[in-house]
Amino acid sequence: MGRGGKKSADGWVTKVTLEGEEYYYREASNEITWEKPEALLTRDEIEANKGDWAWVPHPTLLWQPARTVNEDAAGTVHMVTEAGKNIKIPKSRVMNGPETNGREQKVPLWPLHRSVLKHLEDDLVAADGVNEGIISYTLRELYENKSQIYTWVGAAHSVLVAVNPYKDIKGLYTPNQVRDYERPPPNKKLPPHVFGIAANSYNALLRDAQNQSILISGESGAGKTVATKHCLSWLADVAGSESHVEGKILSANPVLEAFGNAKTIRNNNSSRFGKWIEVYFDGATGGICGASIQNYLLERSRVVYQQRGERNFHIFYQMTGDRDICSRFDLEDASAYQYLNKSGVIKANDVDDEGDLQEVLAAFEELEFGQEEQEWIMATTVAVLLLGNVEFSPKTQAGSVQGSAIKNSGPVKRAADLLGVDPEELDHVLTFRSISVRGEKSVIPLDPTTARDSCDSLAKGIYSRLFDYLVSRINESLEGRAGKFIGILDIFGFEIFENNSFEQLCINYCNEKLQQFFNRTTFKEEESLYAAEGITFKHIEFIDNQVVLDLIEQKPVGILLMLDEETLVPEGSNEKLMNKMESQHQRNPKFQVDPHRRLNKDLSFEVVHYAGVVKYDAELMMQKNIDTLYADMYACCQASSEPRLAGLFPNLGRQQIKSVSYKFRKQLNELMDVLYETESRYIRCVKPNNDQRPDRFETPLVVEQLRYSGVFEAVAIRKQGYPFRLSFRQFRCRYSCINQGHVYRGRDDRAVCEEIIASSPHTFEDVQFGRTLVLYKAPVHKLLTLLRNLALESIVPICQSVIRGGIAREFHRRLEEATHVLQEALDLRNDIDALDDAIKAVEPTIGPLARVFSAKPVNLPEAVAHREDLQKWKDLESIFERLTEVEKPSERQFKELSDAVARAAKLLDIPRTDRQIELFDLARQQVVYMSIKLQEKHLDDNLSKYELDQFGDLRDPMEYASKKMFGKAKAAETMLVWQKSGIVSSLTVMDDKLMIKKAKEIFGLILSFANDKKNKDPDGAGSMVVQIGIDMPEMRDEIYAQIIKQLQANPNPESEQRLYGLLGICLSRFVPSEDFELFVLAQTRKSENSQKFVSAFHTTKYGSDAPSAPSSMSSAINAFESNKNRSRYSVMPARA
Ligand SMILES: Nc1ncnc2c1ncn2[C@@H]1O[C@H](COP(=O)(O)OP(=O)(O)O)[C@@H](O)[C@H]1O
Ligand SMILES: [Mg+2]
Repeated sequence: MGRGGKKSADGWVTKVTLEGEEYYYREASNEITWEKPEALLTRDEIEANKGDWAWVPHPTLLWQPARTVNEDAAGTVHMVTEAGKNIKIPKSRVMNGPETNGREQKVPLWPLHRSVLKHLEDDLVAADGVNEGIISYTLRELYENKSQIYTWVGAAHSVLVAVNPYKDIKGLYTPNQVRDYERPPPNKKLPPHVFGIAANSYNALLRDAQNQSILISGESGAGKTVATKHCLSWLADVAGSESHVEGKILSANPVLEAFGNAKTIRNNNSSRFGKWIEVYFDGATGGICGASIQNYLLERSRVVYQQRGERNFHIFYQMTGDRDICSRFDLEDASAYQYLNKSGVIKANDVDDEGDLQEVLAAFEELEFGQEEQEWIMATTVAVLLLGNVEFSPKTQAGSVQGSAIKNSGPVKRAADLLGVDPEELDHVLTFRSISVRGEKSVIPLDPTTARDSCDSLAKGIYSRLFDYLVSRINESLEGRAGKFIGILDIFGFEIFENNSFEQLCINYCNEKLQQFFNRTTFKEEESLYAAEGITFKHIEFIDNQVVLDLIEQKPVGILLMLDEETLVPEGSNEKLMNKMESQHQRNPKFQVDPHRRLNKDLSFEVVHYAGVVKYDAELMMQKNIDTLYADMYACCQASSEPRLAGLFPNLGRQQIKSVSYKFRKQLNELMDVLYETESRYIRCVKPNNDQRPDRFETPLVVEQLRYSGVFEAVAIRKQGYPFRLSFRQFRCRYSCINQGHVYRGRDDRAVCEEIIASSPHTFEDVQFGRTLVLYKAPVHKLLTLLRNLALESIVPICQSVIRGGIAREFHRRLEEATHVLQEALDLRNDIDALDDAIKAVEPTIGPLARVFSAKPVNLPEAVAHREDLQKWKDLESIFERLTEVEKPSERQFKELSDAVARAAKLLDIPRTDRQIELFDLARQQVVYMSIKLQEKHLDDNLSKYELDQFGDLRDPMEYASKKMFGKAKAAETMLVWQKSGIVSSLTVMDDKLMIKKAKEIFGLILSFANDKKNKDPDGAGSMVVQIGIDMPEMRDEIYAQIIKQLQANPNPESEQRLYGLLGICLSRFVPSEDFELFVLAQTRKSENSQKFVSAFHTTKYGSDAPSAPSSMSSAINAFESNKNRSRYSVMPARA
């Protein structure tokens, strides 16, 4: 600390932070800044600092800082880079030359404060501006110079950017790191980390009992699967479980990867399917209690074909490379199989087939796959491989039709054997296909090419079903769902290839949806936080890509729906589909086609996705959208003697075969529904180069991915608001030091926070104090950081000037000891005595040195504050103890207890003892009990006040009667007594004509129900009254008023009895307004057994069951009548 110290002529001193960054301070004027002041600049620096700095193109780094020299008359801006190179930015601000390495680059000349480059923030929202220049510079510098691959987007720590290092970074995922994110050490700011995302999710799940999600996105090879594994392993380590299910979750990986991952050009272990894993947690223990996996769109075409340089799914090489398996299944070397030997790669770098196979086998065991089941899985895999080796030769069939015959019977026989199907049958379905034309079945031979294709589709069909089987078996082993979950989505990122077809359309559609979700939730999260904190803020614009989503998924003309439609019609073709889409969407700006495409027989169209324009080829779209095997093949597999295989081909019956797009849309929409119910976090994975090489950061590639994943928008959204937010407590602990020597008078954290800002001589622009947080923007954050550094530093100079180093060191040692003791007490979280002891021990520990040095243990304020907090619950505890024993409460006691409960409800963040938790619960019940007791007593003493005509919200009888043409006086008289004709208007005051009409209708129904009016279905009428009461809260008092009216001077005992029944049913379903409660209860006292009404009323008022109208009034009334018990709410709650 306190390095530097050269003083300039006008009093500026250079200082250095704990992290080694320079900053500048002038005591006389109390100025502090990161920017080197003029007075300290060398001549060269003065020269270099002249003019404004901005970002200009760089051939490889994309952007570099440069200084503006001038702008000439033609609008060209002349700039000089740090290396002294002159660059001219044309008036158009578009460049395309050596400076941009041949790219066309817009150059908006984003401004730059050069000093920020010296102390980069590990949060992109805190960076100086939202532009490619500063953001790519930050990521690159952190990555290259600090091996820091993670960066936050925003202080809420819900979005993380992760740049793939392609090498192991020492110490990044150690048990220590796991622990740090589990229990963050006080006063240590943890760097951005994937564990931070997992930890935040887990903590939120425990705190809010809400489902959480982690959405991991990025291109192939960007690190999604690795990030998923890190999240899972952190959860497994920290949460653990009693049944060791977390081990199984981790074991699912090797199996899924063996069957679902492959080497591609971009990634040696690329997942060729999407997955969503839900990990369930036990609400009581916080332990893992199960999990489930959902898979999406396995790339089935890879089974039969791979691009050059790529491989088939790992499992094939694992099995053909294992001596034991080869001899058991009579397998040869991988090169002997057509499905494996065409792409030119058998052995992949960095893929350990042998070792991975052992992991798969161990995982099978862990997941409780039986021996015989494992055997079957392997046999089926081998059979798929063998289908690739079947060769077809031309054979002319009857009627000189071109057909085919199988040249080599070996593979077919062997495959049939492994699949448990009849070899001759298999032979037949591979070379013939039966079709039915107008109900007549006939068999047509397949020529060798078609036979080969259909053999491939059999291989794909079996393999993809085998994969589904594995997922569902793993799910069985993972013990399904129970409790709240954290869901992790590891799914293919946005793809633009040279040729894009159906698969890319689905994948990009999925990404488009996820992007919409991301934008919406990021935006909503910001606004709802500000609203919850009650601060003033500007409305934030949100980027909406609904137009593109509609283009793809809207019924009935979205691209995927038109595709489905075309697939259904008998004469459908890709070309017709293309024409229909063109005429449907030609005016949609997000849909583009080449105007000359019909001339060129071009079947391509472009979609303007959020991440860029993608050209799709409609050729083959329909074929790819149908996922069916020829019926014969299907039936052949279904007839297998191997029940597991047969089970993969269930009887479809009349069920229509769904298209791939249909199934995918359905799955995706289900996923979206789940996601919208979760609190979400994001990991945006980025790959720094296309060669899987460490230490190589190619900026243009990175910037492109950031654009695709919406990182710039996320930064922009967050930056518009208040990206920095600390709880009052955190802010107080961190920044109360900035006003050295100031004695704070604030009584609580919030007051102290306000005082920190108010009593500083510096101006802080736009700091907001919300309900629980202090919120502010980057400039304030920077200033606070500087002031804190200055404050910390001041401790050292005092030591040096006053006393020799030895004593200072001793003081520090003692200070640390006291800090440590305090921390231990703090870590106990909920031990008031330990805290007292620790706080008392501070002075004796530091001893007389305390008189020389003003420093106190840094965590002393926190300890004192925490002690105060704990005391609050202790105080509440004694109130609860006392008042939960009271059986006959007074008004005063009721008020005291309900105030205490309300106060307690705001203190749930403070740790509590089990006893306090229990008492709090009891007290809440007791409040209900007391209010019931007081209400009862009040009614006992004041019964006569609650006659219907005293209710203030009823119409005045004269006004009521005025609605009538004749017989006004009679109407006024009978307003509040039984009558058998309809009422004139509503009894309660209402203006809306429709409502008044409804009220009259209700009265008709009540007459019917009570049999005061002739009708067919009295019970049906009663049930309707109840339904209206449930559905229309605004009619409830009216219903009660009408029933009570009919109970006054009712001449007919049967009618009276039925009306009391109705009253009871109503009270069991919905309650009157608070103003009306006592009137209704007073009425029930006139009945035979008023207790059952009161019980029904309490159960409805305080219970949480959703009401529904009874299906049978008479049995509902019977049930109501027979209940003689008091409701549990009106009985004093019992202590556990
Ligand atoms: N955090 C990391 N540390 C070290 N290497 C990594 C990390 N993340 C990814 N990698 C490397 O990158 C490769 C590809 O990552 P992966 O997660 O499979 O990509 P994705 O699932 O996005 O296609 C991994 O096999 C690994 O070698
Ligand atoms: Mg992956």
